[in-house]
Amino acid sequence: MSRTRTELVTPPARFTERTGVLIVGSGAAGLSTALALADAAPARQVTVLSRTDPSDGATDWAQGGLAAVTDPRDCLESHAADTLTAGGGHGDPHRIWTLVEESPAAIARLVAYGADFDGDLHLEGGHSHRRIVHAADHSGHTVQQALLGAAARAGVEVHSGTRAVDLLTDADGAVCGARVLRQGRIGVILADEVVLAAGGIGAMWSLTSNPPVATADGLAMALRAGAEVRDVEFVQFHPTVLAVPRTGGKDVLVSEAVRGEGAVLIGDDGARLLAGRHPLADLAPRDVVAAEISAHLRRTGAEHAYLDARGVAGFGERFPTINAMLLERGIDAALEPIPVRPGAHYHCGGVAADLDGRTSVPGLSAVGEVAGTGVQGANRLASNSLTEALVAGHRCGLRLAGQRTVRGEALARTPASLVGGGAIIRATMDRHVGVVRTAAGLAEAVAALDALPAATEFTGDSLDATNMAVAGRAIALAARARDNSLGCHRRTDDARPDLPIYNHIGV
Ligand code: SIN
Repeated sequence: MSRTRTELVTPPARFTERTGVLIVGSGAAGLSTALALADAAPARQVTVLSRTDPSDGATDWAQGGLAAVTDPRDCLESHAADTLTAGGGHGDPHRIWTLVEESPAAIARLVAYGADFDGDLHLEGGHSHRRIVHAADHSGHTVQQALLGAAARAGVEVHSGTRAVDLLTDADGAVCGARVLRQGRIGVILADEVVLAAGGIGAMWSLTSNPPVATADGLAMALRAGAEVRDVEFVQFHPTVLAVPRTGGKDVLVSEAVRGEGAVLIGDDGARLLAGRHPLADLAPRDVVAAEISAHLRRTGAEHAYLDARGVAGFGERFPTINAMLLERGIDAALEPIPVRPGAHYHCGGVAADLDGRTSVPGLSAVGEVAGTGVQGANRLASNSLTEALVAGHRCGLRLAGQRTVRGEALARTPASLVGGGAIIRATMDRHVGVVRTAAGLAEAVAALDALPAATEFTGDSLDATNMAVAGRAIALAARARDNSLGCHRRTDDARPDLPIYNHIGV
């Protein structure tokens, strides 16, 4: 059944620009696409949009690193098997193989661009080997800086402060540009090809490791343009987001690498939460750990669990960024356990795409977190996201370099009005579309999202709320349709008696 294609009602466009390839997003996926294009088709005009500034995106914020087989004692088969297992067996084995096979070369490209990684490899949940390439606990910043430096040298234009509002489509339904918001003015950028690399959706929940710009813009724009989506019910919650009120709009992630160095999760009474619950205990895949913490909180009524990192030698030197953020908030991890709760972290599904970025809509590609490629299955293996962004971005750029299509004129689609109520959306997603879900709760979520108040004017806030409502509705509907627990989608009303502990731990 075909969906109605819509577009938001906005003030009139004040400017029109034209480019060859328009890339929406300036993180690892978007810049990798741009760099591959600049290399393979230097004459092609490429424009990259950054909603605020590249340093405000999820790539720059990433702590963990990049999973890849770089140790001769490790092997691709093991990385592929760990990825498939963490993903609940739901991932696409061929695409997973492409990812693991091409990840080492992606890291080598970053090093050639100037990224300086530490010599040792980290261990994170679900991995059978130490294979996380990292730069202390600010790996994402290192990646972002290396890509921005290379993009500047290659002459790629990065337009900060330009937010895509909607995709434009022609009479054939092909994407032919985007409507954008820049300095309070609406404009139009026409393009032969548009690449969505707009990141994730974590800002839809009240506790998240994501930056505030993660308001599901890419997913919502693609839905309005009629693109197919897949696996959108699989939202990964990171087990250890600091459970103190956010400071300056920012929650604090405490990287899984801290557990890789020996930290353990405990309750108020000091008892370990994961001991005996999974063979990998605190380093079980993160859906298992998040569900276990969430069950503990429900059972005990506690506000949070604790991550005890007192046994991690040299915590401050090994994790300088996390340590500084904790100290700023009055927590000394060397002396006291860190209060933590699961927070929204990564969208495993998204705009249906292959690893070359091809979507169901001509003219539209999707790469990185906004894309649902099947690589992350029902639950992403730690540190496989930056590598997917690099690999898919590179492949997408190479594909588009060899492609030149002239698109038709943009045609108006059915108008859709804007809604308000960001706080209502977050409360709804927290309550009904979190770590654990039920059919009744998901139906309530859809009803609450359908009843949001209309926005009185077009503003950044109403655009945030509208995109979150569109995405939230799609996620709640997909979660209601999947009536069994799988990976990071957990249904407490899944009555199957014989589920392995992997899929029903704590429910
Ligand atoms: C972390 O550092 O724990 C996050 C890494 C990831 O999400 O891959």
